Amino acid sequence: MVTIDKLVEKIEELPTPDFIVQKIMNVASDPNASAKELAEVIMMDASLSSKVLKLANSAYYGIPRKITVLNEAIMILGFKTVRNLAMSVFTYSSLFSGRSDGKVDRKKLWRHFIYVAVGSESLGEILGYPVKEELFINGLLHDIGKIALDVMSPEIVEAVYDITREKNLTFSKAEELLDIPPHTLIGGKISEKWGLPDMITQTIEGHHNPSMFIDSLNAEVVATVHIADVISNIMFPGDSLSFGKPKLSPDALNILSIRPGMMKRFVEKLRKKMKKAEEFLEM
Ligand SMILES: [Fe+2]
Ligand SMILES: [Fe+2]
Repeated sequence: MVTIDKLVEKIEELPTPDFIVQKIMNVASDPNASAKELAEVIMMDASLSSKVLKLANSAYYGIPRKITVLNEAIMILGFKTVRNLAMSVFTYSSLFSGRSDGKVDRKKLWRHFIYVAVGSESLGEILGYPVKEELFINGLLHDIGKIALDVMSPEIVEAVYDITREKNLTFSKAEELLDIPPHTLIGGKISEKWGLPDMITQTIEGHHNPSMFIDSLNAEVVATVHIADVISNIMFPGDSLSFGKPKLSPDALNILSIRPGMMKRFVEKLRKKMKKAEEFLEM
């Protein structure tokens, strides 16, 4: 049986965010950095800058006039949003590089990443969370362990997918049945390896069990991504290779003081934002 240790060894072979993406993460979280600095880092990669500009001009942000230079994108959308765009471009390209002849529909998996990012941000807006951009990136990366598993051991992912589809089970339930290391753990290791902030590592590790981090400073973020993930899985069964009925954690609802009626508002908002996020699906 595959052990977590064996998989961790393989993690070393996975793509790391390259120098530029790493630098973008650093500059964007440095409160003293200037827009010019961030623009200069992104401009080191021509294809990255053009993709970031394309997304900055997408319907999702609804900017009335065309943004043509990066400085402007940062001024209008903010550091963290531009960082999120760069991270989206990186995650997308790492998802689509490598083999794609397996059963995993990577397009749908990508759609799941985007919808959970958009969903986390939407729920944050309803709850009045102060830094909704953080929710986007946490949602975007929550299932990174699934890509890693697919790159490292496609046969495992296929075995999981066969069970989830045939028996109508969640991905996590199939991991248990097959006794394989959970994608939450693998994803957490990758997040550490990439030097991503603790908030992102905890979200990845706790998105199916937010009670794990109930006492953490990041409890709200983990709970928000959990809810966005459950709702996305209910709305689009199979996108994340998961079927069946994912359970909504009562702790997550408590952490965020979700009141009756809020979930309905959330789903309505999410549907509207999903339509606007179409450009994120094809990059
Ligand atoms: Fe997951
Ligand atoms: Fe997910």
